[in-house]
Amino acid sequence: MSKIHAVVLAAGQGTRMKSKLYKVLHPVCGKPMVQHVTDTLAAMKVDDVVVVVGHGAEAVRATLGDRVAYALQSEQLGTAHAVQQAVPHLLDKEGTTFILYGDVPLLSEETLRALLAFHEEQHAAATVLTADMADPTGYGRIIRNEAGEVLRIVEHKDASEEQRAIREINTGIYCFDNKKLITALSQVKNDNVQGEYYVTDCIGILRDAGEKVVAYVAKDADETMGVNDRVQLAQAESYMRRRINERHMRNGVTIQDPASTYIEADVVIGPDTHILPGTHLRGKTTVGADCTLGPQADLRDMTIADRVTISYSVLVESTVGENVTVGPYAYVRPGSEIAAEVKIGDFVELKNAKIGKGSKVPHLSYVGDAEIGENVNIGCGTITVNYDGEKKHKTIVGNDVFIGCNSNLVAPVTIGEGAYVAAGSTITHNVPEDALAIARERQVNKSGYATKLPRKKKK
Ligand code: UD1
Ligand code: CA
Repeated sequence: MSKIHAVVLAAGQGTRMKSKLYKVLHPVCGKPMVQHVTDTLAAMKVDDVVVVVGHGAEAVRATLGDRVAYALQSEQLGTAHAVQQAVPHLLDKEGTTFILYGDVPLLSEETLRALLAFHEEQHAAATVLTADMADPTGYGRIIRNEAGEVLRIVEHKDASEEQRAIREINTGIYCFDNKKLITALSQVKNDNVQGEYYVTDCIGILRDAGEKVVAYVAKDADETMGVNDRVQLAQAESYMRRRINERHMRNGVTIQDPASTYIEADVVIGPDTHILPGTHLRGKTTVGADCTLGPQADLRDMTIADRVTISYSVLVESTVGENVTVGPYAYVRPGSEIAAEVKIGDFVELKNAKIGKGSKVPHLSYVGDAEIGENVNIGCGTITVNYDGEKKHKTIVGNDVFIGCNSNLVAPVTIGEGAYVAAGSTITHNVPEDALAIARERQVNKSGYATKLPRKKKK
């Protein structure tokens, strides 16, 4: 197979989005649109990828990093002008060049491969990926002759009424013979309604020069939709969400109600995991096998082992070991490491907390900046007092410790292995191993006194 290059156009402002954020950086299922495109190219092992940046160039570079090369289009004079900025990367190269738009995020690897295979089989100078759109408004239309051969592409704004009736549209994805593309680009003019240099004109230019120009019709038109405004953004999101959910279900994940399950593009889930409604799995989250997540589990950048149960809880940038249960109504904040067999119960907040194997934080606790050992019981209402108004301090609790209900552990403080803290204690000093710490007023019972209280007096 000959060498494959790709140019991704991502320099436009995206005026129709009406946003501070540059269009191609708007996320679809948690990933910027342009990154969907470059990730698909990476999966295809395309040799060189050049992203044309302009508006928001720095932000796009920061998002994609050095996985791709960049060309700067400092003034947006049209899509052909944009591709031209990438020409220095393509000069003297043999092979096929893909052109893709950064605002067409749903395009699958299979479709791109099919397009490339067709292009090579046809020995074409250019192959355009087209689609039959129920509503072609806004797209370039494919003009064919009576024999069905592709002649050129006419932009919606430049099209006659008759041409606007054509439903076969330009998806903005093409394969070009690299050298012929460079020649055609140099001939593109801007004598059109928008006064722009259109890359779509390369099709007509090559055809008029007697080159072979063909179209490959996408099997699934929805996959080729371009996102120009937020209505299309929502449509793209729901399409991709469905595709992601279906992929997981085919891999053995049960999703009770796909319509109310939100899984971002890079999430990994093991087989026989059940996902209940209202669950969001975001970012780089990895979930093991045989877990039950939800209802309403919201996880971002989490690593979850096998057989974990999480309901009605929010977990962020932390790890959870095997056979753990979390929730209902727990909040696990960044930097927490929950070992195997742990129970994190209702109304518990963890922050930067290590919880050792087999330990329990069953109800109503705040555990922050803490290292809790193994087989520890943190009684209901226990609070690590980690903040003195200026700095955060650490609480260390050894293995097999029992913290009685409603205790305050005022950090920095260490509770030695096997120690016992009496309920209601406010612990301000370290507790040695195997000691019992009681840090509260001793109880006094005044005999008969209650009968003298006003509310107890007999009428
Ligand atoms: C374009 C196509 C149209 C096609 C549609 C598919 C052209 C002239 N028209 O129209 O035939 O049906 O996509 O979605 O190509 N860009 C630059 N620099 C520029 C202009 C645009 O980098 O100077 C980038 C944009 O960031 C965007 C992409 O090119 O990612 C497409 O530009 P856009 O303005 O959205 O073109 P459409 O009007 O959608
Ligand atoms: Ca577009």
